[in-house]
Amino acid sequence: MTSAPTRIAILFSGTGTNLRNLAAHINAPHVPATLELAICNRPDAKGLDFCRENNIPHELIDHTNYSDRAEFDAAMHAALQAANIELICAAGFMRLLTPEFVQHWEDRILNIHPSLLPAYKGLHTHRRVLEARDTSHGCTHGCTVHLMRPEMDEGPILVQKQVDVLPDDTEDTLAARVMAQELIAYPEALDMMLARLRG
Ligand code: GRF
Repeated sequence: MTSAPTRIAILFSGTGTNLRNLAAHINAPHVPATLELAICNRPDAKGLDFCRENNIPHELIDHTNYSDRAEFDAAMHAALQAANIELICAAGFMRLLTPEFVQHWEDRILNIHPSLLPAYKGLHTHRRVLEARDTSHGCTHGCTVHLMRPEMDEGPILVQKQVDVLPDDTEDTLAARVMAQELIAYPEALDMMLARLRG
């Protein structure tokens, strides 16, 4: 049992829709957590502007400056430790992490993936769902928040949200409906983890 708020870091690579949503959730008075650090691996990520404009402590750790994954992960690990991070949320972080990194943070690193895992691991999930759909039957898609494990898009599932795939869906319309569910799923999963960690 602890009373100090849980110290959270968010990892992201791009637009930062989940980053914004999680930041707002963590800052809500009833959530026993603080957003201590955001780490981004791409200098062109739009989410960095959000961090700058909202005074969110952030670090750009550009993976292209490191010779291999282990060195990059070591830099991330050092930044996370320096900020005394207790829980990590990967939110659109488009880079595989080494098994060593993931094992070090086991059960303290969450990830969001735009599919109903274990279906459609990997990239371009919306496109692949549309390509595979059976038009004579209803088809579902969605998102998953899970605890990260060394294997890509593996790990205990915390929250899943479903959406129906509609006959006239395009990749963009489907992505938008899944994203609307991601914005509900991640805060729910975070609350679940905070309740577990804080006893
Ligand atoms: C989301 O769909 C997330 O599930 C996936 O990458 C996308 C990131 O979007 N891993 P954003 O950066 O949160 O806008």
